[in-house]
Amino acid sequence: MSVSAILLLVEILSSIGVLEFTAAAPLVAPIVGICYGINGNNLPSKQEVVDMFKSRGIPRMRIYSPDEEIIQALRGSRIELVMDVAGDTIQSLTDPNVAADWVHRYITSYSQDVNFKYIVVGNEVHPNYDLAPYILPAMTNIQNAISSANLVTKVSTAIDTTLVTNSYPPNNSVFTADASPYIGPIINFLVKNEAPLLANLYPYFAYVNNQKDIDLHYALFTQQGTNDIGYQNLFDAMLDSIYAALEKIGAPNLEVVVSESGWPSAGGDGALVDNAHVYYFRLIKHAYSGSGTPKRPGRPIQTFLFAMFDENQKPGAEVERHFGIFNPDKSPKY
Ligand SMILES: *[C@@H]1O[C@H](CO)[C@@H](O)[C@H](O)[C@H]1NC(C)=O
Repeated sequence: MSVSAILLLVEILSSIGVLEFTAAAPLVAPIVGICYGINGNNLPSKQEVVDMFKSRGIPRMRIYSPDEEIIQALRGSRIELVMDVAGDTIQSLTDPNVAADWVHRYITSYSQDVNFKYIVVGNEVHPNYDLAPYILPAMTNIQNAISSANLVTKVSTAIDTTLVTNSYPPNNSVFTADASPYIGPIINFLVKNEAPLLANLYPYFAYVNNQKDIDLHYALFTQQGTNDIGYQNLFDAMLDSIYAALEKIGAPNLEVVVSESGWPSAGGDGALVDNAHVYYFRLIKHAYSGSGTPKRPGRPIQTFLFAMFDENQKPGAEVERHFGIFNPDKSPKY
């Protein structure tokens, strides 16, 4: 059972028939990617990390700022890049000229041989944050500049699940009264641009915060059969709660891309190597299986695993520093 993480990915993918091999490296359908955060003082060089993605056939990467060393290293690879705008530059991008310069510098200059999939303006921004009023104007300016350059890259934002409420059963879920005036216009923008909404989904935190009502097996995809609301796992229930809220706000056809999901190996209740191993294994298999969720059946689920490495300088609770799939020495944790 204790095989390398990507061996795991490759084994799972070949067993469900989505893996093709090229002469150079395994080429995996771009459904699952890995988030590459750099808040550590013991991590491999950026070039080495990009080489890990290449050699292990990881088809997608999410980074949290337009890091030119990483973008440069990605040149010529077919890795699909999801790139956040740095939080502290979002406000400046409400000026269309600044946004045009930003797109020119970080996207257009590399777009010949770097595959930019989504640009993320705002990660887990809440409607009461100072940044909230700048998100849609910055998204609009960046999308306009990208479209003027004739690129197909889509702009979006990554929400967390605190923006929805009443999510049991998932079909009853709605955006909160606070969130609706913030997210409604953003959703209209996404629909108009045929871009997906991004959402960070953590069954781990839902489980930890409500262990009385949530069974570990339900959070880990290991429950036998479905529960009385028709769900086999909490991930699907959380994803469908967002789809239900989107239906009620008038966007029934908007796709949700899971922009982060993971399980920590230490630092909190249920944070164990064995649990994390099972979570990542099952999540990858589920995402690729094409079973979808009860509300959106029959399709793969675009998902980013959080994260490439344990980040020893990440602030917050201890558990935040134990989401890595790989160790700092590049060996797989699972
Ligand atoms: C889910 O909610 C929508 C309304 O938002 C309704 O049309 C649909 O029938 C519901 N589905 C189920 C399975 O209850």
